[in-house]
Amino acid sequence: MSYSDRPADQKTPLQARTSRPLTGTVRVPGDKSISHRALILGALAIGETRISGLLEGEDVLNTARSMRSLGARVERTGNFAWSVRGVGVSGLARPESPLDFGNSGTGCRLVMGAVAGCPIAAVFDGDASLRSRPMRRVLDPLELMGARAGPSGPGGRLPLTLVGARDPLPITYRTPVASAQIKSAVLLAGLAAPGVTTVIENEASRDHTELMLRHFGAEIVSTVEGKHGRKIALTGQGELHSAEVVVPADPSSAAFPLVAALIVEGSELILLDVMTNPLRTGLFTTLREMGASIEESNVRTDSGEAMAQLRIRASKLRGVEVPPERAPSMIDEYLVLAVAAGFAEGTTIMRGLQELRVKESDRLEATAAMLRVNGVRCEISDDDLIVEGTGHVPGGGIVSTHMDHRIAMSALVMGLASDQPVAVDDTAFIATSFPDFIPMMRGIGAEFT
Ligand code: S3P
Repeated sequence: MSYSDRPADQKTPLQARTSRPLTGTVRVPGDKSISHRALILGALAIGETRISGLLEGEDVLNTARSMRSLGARVERTGNFAWSVRGVGVSGLARPESPLDFGNSGTGCRLVMGAVAGCPIAAVFDGDASLRSRPMRRVLDPLELMGARAGPSGPGGRLPLTLVGARDPLPITYRTPVASAQIKSAVLLAGLAAPGVTTVIENEASRDHTELMLRHFGAEIVSTVEGKHGRKIALTGQGELHSAEVVVPADPSSAAFPLVAALIVEGSELILLDVMTNPLRTGLFTTLREMGASIEESNVRTDSGEAMAQLRIRASKLRGVEVPPERAPSMIDEYLVLAVAAGFAEGTTIMRGLQELRVKESDRLEATAAMLRVNGVRCEISDDDLIVEGTGHVPGGGIVSTHMDHRIAMSALVMGLASDQPVAVDDTAFIATSFPDFIPMMRGIGAEFT
C-alpha cells in the first residue's frame, strides 16, 4: 500500500487557533519543482550530480525512487544532500516494477517526458488523487514525438504503460494551456531527438527546466513570444554534463508562514533563501498590492536561480483584482491568497483559474468550500473566484483536505487568526511538500491542537 492510500480511520486531524504574534527566522524546505528536476536531469547526465537542499518530501522521494528504478544511482549522502550518477541522454533502463508517483503530477509528467525519449516501456501509477488527473495533455505531444501510451482511463488517467520512442522526433509544440509540466515533458523527450525541439507558450510558465538544462550544458534558447509568452528551442542529442545544484527555499511553501505572519497581528518573520524567480512570485506581487509589508534583502543567484531573504510584518490588507495572466506565476498559491483575501477589507477577484480544477484536487471548488465553512462569503463565476473580505474571518469550520497538501496548510493558516478555531480532517498529505510544516509553524508561535 502506498503512503497516500491510508484507510480513512488513520486520518490525522488538527485544529489551528488564534495565536500570539508569529516571530523568528526560518528556512522553509527546498523548492519542489527544482528538486524533481535536479533528480531527473542528474539521472540523464553523465557523471555525478551533487544536490544540496533537496526537498525530502514524499513527492520528491517518489521521483528519486523512480529514477533509481530507471537505472540511475541515487543516494542520500547527508541531510538534504543527495548524489545522482546518471546514465546519459536516452540511457534509462526498463524498470522492473511500476513507477509509483504517489500524489505528484509533476514527478509523473516530467518522468513521462524522460521515458518518452528512451527505447523502454514503463508503467506509471499514483494515488487516488493522481489517478484522477488528466495525463492526455502530456501524452499528446509525447506521442507526436514517437512514444506510445497503452490503454488508460478516460483522458489518459493512470495507471498506464508508456513505451518510449526508439528514434524520437523533434517537434514544434504550442502548449494548449500554460503548463510547465507539459513544456518540461516535451523538452525532456527532446533531449534524445535529433535537431531542434521547440515549445511555444502563450503565457510563460515557470522556467526551471530551461534554466537547469542550461546549467547542465544543454543548448537551449528562450525568447519572448507575443505579450506574455515564450518560445523555447532545445537542440537534442547532446550529452548533459553533471552539475552541482543548490536548491533554494520553495516560494510556494514560504507562502504559508508568509500569509500567517501578515494576518496574525503583531507578527514579524524572516524567511531565508526564498526563491524569487519572477515566474514564481505572483503571490508576492499580489500581496504587496493588497498592502502587505514584504521586504527583500540579500538578493543573489545560485545554480541559475534567484533567491532573497524576506522580512514580513503583519499588515492591514485590502481587496484587489488579480489578472488572469498572473495565474501561471502563482498557480499553487490561490488557496492561501484566498485566506489572505478573507482577512482583507473589501472584495478580491481572482480571474482565470480554470487550471485549479485539475490540481491535486479541484482547488477552485475546494477553496470556496474552505472559505464558506468558515463564514467567508465567496462566489465562483465561470473560472473566477470572488471573495468578500470583511477584515476578519469567523472560523469554526472543519475543512476537507481532499488528499491535497495545500488545502490542509491554507486552512491551518486561516485558523491562526480567525475568531473561532479552524480544523482540518487530515494533515497527512502535508508531507508531500512540507514535511516539517507543523513543527516549524509551532516554532514561530502557531497554536495547533
Ligand atoms: C509545476 C508546475 C505547475 C504546478 C506544480 C509544479 C512544475 O503545474 O502547479 O505544482 O514543477 O512544473 P502545471 O505545469 O501543470 O501548471
